[in-house]
Amino acid sequence: MAPRSFEHPVSISLEELRVEPFRETHDVKGFDCGNGDLNDFLCTSEVSKYEKLGLGTTYLVHRWGNLVAYFTVSSDSMRVEYLKTAKSFSEVRELRLEAIPGFKIGRLAVDTRHQKRGIGRTLIKCIAGMALEGKVGVRVLMVQAKP
Ligand SMILES: CC(C)(COP(=O)(O)OP(=O)(O)OC[C@H]1O[C@@H](n2cnc3c(N)ncnc32)[C@H](O)[C@@H]1OP(=O)(O)O)[C@@H](O)C(=O)NCCC(=O)NCCS
Repeated sequence: MAPRSFEHPVSISLEELRVEPFRETHDVKGFDCGNGDLNDFLCTSEVSKYEKLGLGTTYLVHRWGNLVAYFTVSSDSMRVEYLKTAKSFSEVRELRLEAIPGFKIGRLAVDTRHQKRGIGRTLIKCIAGMALEGKVGVRVLMVQAKP
């Protein structure tokens, strides 16, 4: 089967994006991705609570000095029974495991003024790179999706 082609080409490279951990001193006012919950998470104390309680690490993404996106990641796991039919997990299923270690994208948001230019797709690559850094075992990349 031919790989699915994307509707628009990505003109952005990861080198153009500055990805850094969220700090309370960062100015995030005015960020708008079009989704109220995701805006509120970043622009209220919720983001700091997540950091403090170890529930997720948030990264801010700047391009040419502008805040263009953020994402929140955490470690997670997926129960083996959800992967029952996946061919590439046949070897894993032979082991006595209840769950498969994973890396979860809890939140991913691109500011409306910068959407549809490939930033979201570039960030997925960046996050996959983080997951594969090799410091801990990771087999699945998970997304806590919004409709
Ligand atoms: C979803 C979002 C992160 C995509 O970021 P982006 O920088 O605009 O994405 P890209 O330009 O890299 O586009 C990547 C692909 O995702 C597609 N896409 C964008 N929004 C989508 C959605 N809601 N559902 C399915 N696909 C979507 C685009 O059409 C594009 O595919 P194409 O190249 O085949 O056309 C951004 O639109 C956003 O922040 N939306 C509001 C918040 C949200 O829904 N976050 C995700 C849930 S946690």
